Amino acid sequence: MGRVALVGRPAVTEGGQQGHFGILLGHIGGLFVPESWTDAAGISEQTYHVVAVALGTAAGICTLGGLAILIHRRRTVGPVFSATTVNDKAMYLSLTVTIGLGLAATVAANLVGGGHNYRETISPWFRSIFHLQPDPDLMTGIPVLFQLHALSALLLFAAWPFTRLVHMLTAPLGYLTRPYIVHRSRDARLGTRAPHRGWERIR
Ligand code: HEM
Repeated sequence: MGRVALVGRPAVTEGGQQGHFGILLGHIGGLFVPESWTDAAGISEQTYHVVAVALGTAAGICTLGGLAILIHRRRTVGPVFSATTVNDKAMYLSLTVTIGLGLAATVAANLVGGGHNYRETISPWFRSIFHLQPDPDLMTGIPVLFQLHALSALLLFAAWPFTRLVHMLTAPLGYLTRPYIVHRSRDARLGTRAPHRGWERIR
């Protein structure tokens, strides 16, 4: 946060917001809300499909756009580029592959293809992991782009704690109690103005 606050902040805000909006919108509704709930609410599969494809495609494009903004900032803002490690590059690659496959699967299967009702395959499989009774059979025979998307996401999740993405699992509570960061100039003179009382240089 400290570094982000100083370097390239607008790009982080813009790119980060787009990215998070895209991923959250596409997944919370699709993976965690069972089809029976939307059926009970009177939403037909046809209606769900049309809304999901429209929102999903828009959200995927937003996510990809957000990622492009973040990568552009990392490459063009000098101090950020200098602080970029091989680990960061691998993380961005993994994110790009996962997001690209998610968008490709949505477009190929559900926009231009005949449609795949992932709420009868991928979504129950995903929830079965949290019930501690994983059911891999649900993932057989589904469009390969969805299989690759889920696989790349699992690899990304495995790498998650070892990358900058770990920020998702943290809360900066230490900021409330930590001491101020003191910046000291090496210059003999500090500008042309006389320092305010109490702010004279420590020698
Ligand atoms: C095991 C975990 C995951 C599963 C099971 C999963 C499943 C899905 C499914 C079913 C869709 C199609 C949604 C639709 O057409 O309405 C989708 C789309 C997408 N996924 Fe994932 N996903 C996972 C993780 C991720 C992660 C970690 C990312 C990003 C880092 C991601 C990014 C995307 C994007 C950008 C789309 C296209 C836009 C959208 O529909 O939201 N997914 N994913």
